[in-house]
Amino acid sequence: MENAVKEKIDSLESGSLLSAEEFIFLLENRTPSAAEYAADKASKIRDAVYGKDIYIRGLIEFTNICKNDCYYCGIRKSNKNAARYRLSKEDILNCADYGYDIGFRTFVLQGGEDAFFTDEVLTDIIKSIKNNHPDCALTLSVGERSKDSYQKLFDAGADRYLLRHETADDDHYSHLHPPYLSLSNRKKCLYELKEIGYQTGAGFMVGSPGQTKETLAKDLIFLRELEPEMIGIGPFIPHKDTPFKDEKSGTLEDTLYLLSLIRIMLPEVLLPATTALGTIHPNGREMGILSGANVVMPNLSPPNVRKKYMLYDNKICTGEEAAECLSCLSSRINSIGYSLSTDRGDHIKIRRK
Ligand code: SAM
Ligand code: FES
Repeated sequence: MENAVKEKIDSLESGSLLSAEEFIFLLENRTPSAAEYAADKASKIRDAVYGKDIYIRGLIEFTNICKNDCYYCGIRKSNKNAARYRLSKEDILNCADYGYDIGFRTFVLQGGEDAFFTDEVLTDIIKSIKNNHPDCALTLSVGERSKDSYQKLFDAGADRYLLRHETADDDHYSHLHPPYLSLSNRKKCLYELKEIGYQTGAGFMVGSPGQTKETLAKDLIFLRELEPEMIGIGPFIPHKDTPFKDEKSGTLEDTLYLLSLIRIMLPEVLLPATTALGTIHPNGREMGILSGANVVMPNLSPPNVRKKYMLYDNKICTGEEAAECLSCLSSRINSIGYSLSTDRGDHIKIRRK
């Protein structure tokens, strides 16, 4: 590895605010030994902050109905081949009860932007889950809403919110989304979520169509400025019924290297090894952890709807029961020297309070 790359990784670790050019330099000079150096450093940093615990989040994909038409997404409104579903309140509560019994202490309610789930409907569901399981954290991932709506959902008991920024470059944003969606509104939502007090998650797909080292450098700088508590990054994977069906997937190597750089830059962040990473490589999630990730999000959705929440082709874990997913993941994680934790897994600064 070039000494200059090693020095740049070291200076990222010591807290230097790298410029876009410096991030581009790091991305352009990813050799296997540079990636190994970054992964080793990232792993040590994660171990120092969070130890050998890997936090689990039970993902409840409660609706695949969406008013948006993001060009990359398998459940976009224009995909007439998607079989649509919406879980009832009872289904959602059953998922949480079952998840609780098998050890989950965080539930993530994720779905398309489905108008059925008004503030009233969602607050009722949030209150019921929190009432049934007061020791659990509840994460929402239901897209862009007004600040007033985010506040109501927070007041009802939601603790965390995932809203990937997708890309921090305006032109790239419009390459990925229809004209009525904008990066400025996405950023506004993220700052509002933080202001309200949510543990907030941003992030992006690695290798999305039109992504360049320049746009990635902007992503890293945006993440440094926003300082989210969580960052979700995973490879872009094409879906056969979208405008990007013929595009290439993001790569394992790029994703792992970015995970490491993010961990080095933001040592305390909660960083998932995503399902998409496990989809492009059979050991993707384990390698994600060895590159600095510390969260996994097994699927808690009822098995009969899993194949319908198909964001991209060949998504893994769509056939199994949640308990099977959990025991499979648990042995995979043990095999690399880590263990799944049943702690709520809040950001370290929340625990210090
Ligand atoms: N509607 C909510 C939102 O937009 O934030 C949550 C659901 S959305 C499907 C969750 C995430 O899935 C997106 O932020 C996007 O990054 C990811 N995603 C969608 N299509 C994907 C694809 N083809 N490959 C990889 N990730 C994808
Ligand atoms: Fe709405 Fe993907 S387009 S969830």
